[in-house]
Amino acid sequence: MWLLLLIFGGGLTVIFSQCVNAGDKPDVRGEEYAGSKKCMKCHEDVYRSYLLTAHYHSLQRATGSNVHGSFEHGHDSVTFDNGNAGLVMNKRISGMYQTAYKKAREYRSERFDMVFGGNKAESYVYWNGTKPYELPISYYKSLHGWANSPGYDTRLPYFERQVTQRCFECHASYVKQPAIANTMQNRDAGFDTTTMIYGIDCERCHGPAANHVNFHLANPGEKVAHYITTYKLLNRKQRLDDCAVCHGGNKDELQTSAFDFKPSDDLARFKVPRFLPKRLSAADKCRFNRLNAIKFVNLQ
Ligand code: HEC
Ligand code: HEC
Ligand code: HEC
Ligand code: HEC
Repeated sequence: MWLLLLIFGGGLTVIFSQCVNAGDKPDVRGEEYAGSKKCMKCHEDVYRSYLLTAHYHSLQRATGSNVHGSFEHGHDSVTFDNGNAGLVMNKRISGMYQTAYKKAREYRSERFDMVFGGNKAESYVYWNGTKPYELPISYYKSLHGWANSPGYDTRLPYFERQVTQRCFECHASYVKQPAIANTMQNRDAGFDTTTMIYGIDCERCHGPAANHVNFHLANPGEKVAHYITTYKLLNRKQRLDDCAVCHGGNKDELQTSAFDFKPSDDLARFKVPRFLPKRLSAADKCRFNRLNAIKFVNLQ
């Protein structure tokens, strides 16, 4: 009887999630989400191996251990403008910084606040208030060292490339932008930094799982998964879409945030339809390329 009520009584499961979640900080995405830490209790092996994946590391707060470039003298700098300008990585009490010099004079210094990537390359982001910007220098594993961030000018260090929500949609699990019209690509909107969920978590691939967690906590004897999308039951296209939401290439514009994508959704419904091939003027082309470079540093 309990089981029937749970299966058919949507309202009841909500009450359930509220009571089991009581005392916990609710997930910023809403009460249908549990948060990855909750999965560890019953899926410890999956959780532990997940901590080693590129997905878990795809966006992190910068710390001494996830910034891999050298801060040692001789390996800590990049020169610009044939040696007339330069950028040095330095550590201070308040953190790690990229500091720009022109004619031996420091003129700008910004902190490593977040790390994107880590598999082959790392790019860094600093916050200016609620707005994130990419730092001029990235770390490349193949070079074992620092070099200009992809697509950047080699004449002077560039600090003005704003990071858009689109970057977070593929590298993080959630961050809230103020609810104003058309924020998808609105780089002036800023973010509510307290809502950031770093990295790609379990529920980005498996969908919201609070009811799954609550059901199995209350029914420890039950060995068949409830309230979670069973991967085996997805068709081929649905399985591809579950990865293609981030791996399908960067060129498509989305009309709905990829944060809202759940397994079994149809990805085509998230994309802006293209009715006509775009004809661009030379000026548009330049702007278009720059915007693309800004939005999508990782064109394959
Ligand atoms: C209280 C225990 C419990 C917790 C907590 C829990 N699960 Fe599960 N989960 C189960 C059980 C039991 C199964 C079914 C047996 C199995 O596949 O391991 C299951 C199965 C699954 C499956 C496989 C579904 C299928 O049939 O293909 C996925 C995916 C899953 N859980 C995801 C999660 C996620 C994500 C979280 C955290 C948000 C989570 N689980 C937390 C108990 C739990
Ligand atoms: C929410 C976005 C997102 C989803 C969904 C996603 N990925 Fe990824 N994936 C990424 C990002 C971003 C990276 C690069 C991470 C990094 O290095 O920072 C990545 C990296 C990878 C890598 C490289 C790992 C390595 O160690 O070389 C593989 C393989 C991969 N993903 C497979 C998949 C598969 C398969 C799926 C679907 C089941 C999937 N991804 C779903 C965003 C995603
Ligand atoms: C449509 C999804 C998508 C968007 C948008 C996106 N990325 Fe990525 N990014 C990926 C995937 C997938 C990979 C892994 C690709 C690979 O290994 O070939 C990746 C790789 C990277 C890497 C290299 C990671 C590594 O470990 O080698 C960095 C750095 C990075 N992205 C930063 C960014 C930044 C900054 C933005 C925004 C300006 C951004 N990405 C936008 C999906 C995306
Ligand atoms: C990048 C997407 C992605 C992420 C992130 C992810 N999973 Fe999965 N997971 C999958 C896919 C795809 C499968 C199905 C693999 C298959 O059946 O071949 C799977 C299978 C599972 C299964 C059932 C099979 C098994 O090995 O027991 C469980 C349980 C599970 N995941 C839990 C989790 C938990 C918990 C987390 C977070 C700690 C997580 N997953 C993170 C994509 C993901």
